[in-house]
Amino acid sequence: MILVTGGAGFIGANFVLDWLASCDEAVVNLDALTYAGNRESLASLDGDPRHHFVHGDITDRNLLDRLFAEHRPRAVVHFAAESHVDRSIHGPGEFIQTNVQGTFTLLEAARGFWSSLGEADKKAFRFHHVSTDEVYGSLGRDDPPFTETHLYQPNSPYSASKAASDHLVRAWHHTYGLPVLTTNCSNNYGPFHFPEKLIPLMIVNALAGKPLPVYGDGQQVRDWLYVKDHCAAIREVLARGRVGETYNIGGWNEKPNIEIVKTVCALLDELKPDPAGSYERLISYVTDRPGHDRRYAIDARKLERELGWKPAETFETGIRKTVNWYLEHGDWVARVQSGAYREWLDRNYADRNAA
Ligand code: NAD
Ligand code: DAU
Repeated sequence: MILVTGGAGFIGANFVLDWLASCDEAVVNLDALTYAGNRESLASLDGDPRHHFVHGDITDRNLLDRLFAEHRPRAVVHFAAESHVDRSIHGPGEFIQTNVQGTFTLLEAARGFWSSLGEADKKAFRFHHVSTDEVYGSLGRDDPPFTETHLYQPNSPYSASKAASDHLVRAWHHTYGLPVLTTNCSNNYGPFHFPEKLIPLMIVNALAGKPLPVYGDGQQVRDWLYVKDHCAAIREVLARGRVGETYNIGGWNEKPNIEIVKTVCALLDELKPDPAGSYERLISYVTDRPGHDRRYAIDARKLERELGWKPAETFETGIRKTVNWYLEHGDWVARVQSGAYREWLDRNYADRNAA
């Protein structure tokens, strides 16, 4: 079996669902169920003996030791993190706690377990660390996309905490020999995405007739990848990636934010027209994110060359599936919009005057 951390979050839940749809190897899913974790995303696995959910924190060493001893996983896939840049600006402490201290604690527990294994199991064991392209910093308009050898130049508390975790993972391989793999992925989108991030926020706000807040001039560029393509890439790297290597994962889909927002509006105009007029009327330019990275782009050729991975979805097919998913899952959206979610919207958007 494998141990997944953060498997009730956006990418983790998609990963667990896709994993169990593609094989019968059981999953122990450890998640602290922060505001971003949602058991409902895993409801289709209720009663499935291959899925064992554990409510707990990756900073809890005793719990981790118990889970390793009890379940003896052959691999760890580590998604658990604080993941939202804007939240890291308002409150960086939790990012250091989970992303740095938590990854350290998980590495130490994994190392303790791994050291106790026989030679063959030790060789086969994997610690797969799921990271982000944001560790590389920001690109200029004409710069080539990030390769795996790009300098680490994180600019936000979030990306700095993820960069720190990447360095810990690297060091645990070089110093102790722990068989690690690291993947650095670009912006994901798709089902179960918490509506604090750009694409689901725009869909949810548009359907509620609320403003669509575009930071700054809306010309920041992200490289979008459909979440199920990310999950497939992780499965490939876990199965066949070279130990100690890092692999960049991206969709070859660079788009400025304003184009993303207009695409979402156009799809909603087609699929759920609003008698009041096009959803584009709701677009509102607001004060920029402090330290906002201008452009991310991933060079994913290493992954394609070594493991033959390529994204299956284009942005056009993926975004249509995503908008349809949100239209069909109003109940999921309603339930994640708790009081805490509304408090976050007040905190993040109240001081952003319309630009
Ligand atoms: P998310 O915020 O949706 O989910 C994070 C999950 O981790 C939640 O279920 C949460 O409850 C859990 N968690 C948080 N702190 C925990 C702790 N201390 N112990 C146990 N569980 C804890 O995040 P996501 O968007 O699914 O991202 C998953 C991973 O992928 C993160 O490591 C992130 O850095 C990385 N990543 C995300 C993207 C993206 O576009 N979303 C892109 C590249 C990499
Ligand atoms: O690049 C990978 C990263 O992508 C992941 O590591 C992060 O976990 C994930 O959250 C994401 O980070 P971003 O900051 O790029 O994602 P977000 O959805 O928050 O913002 C995308 C872009 O949209 C960014 O340029 C900021 C802008 N934006 C965002 C929000 C929430 C807006 O213009 N308005 C908004 O209201």
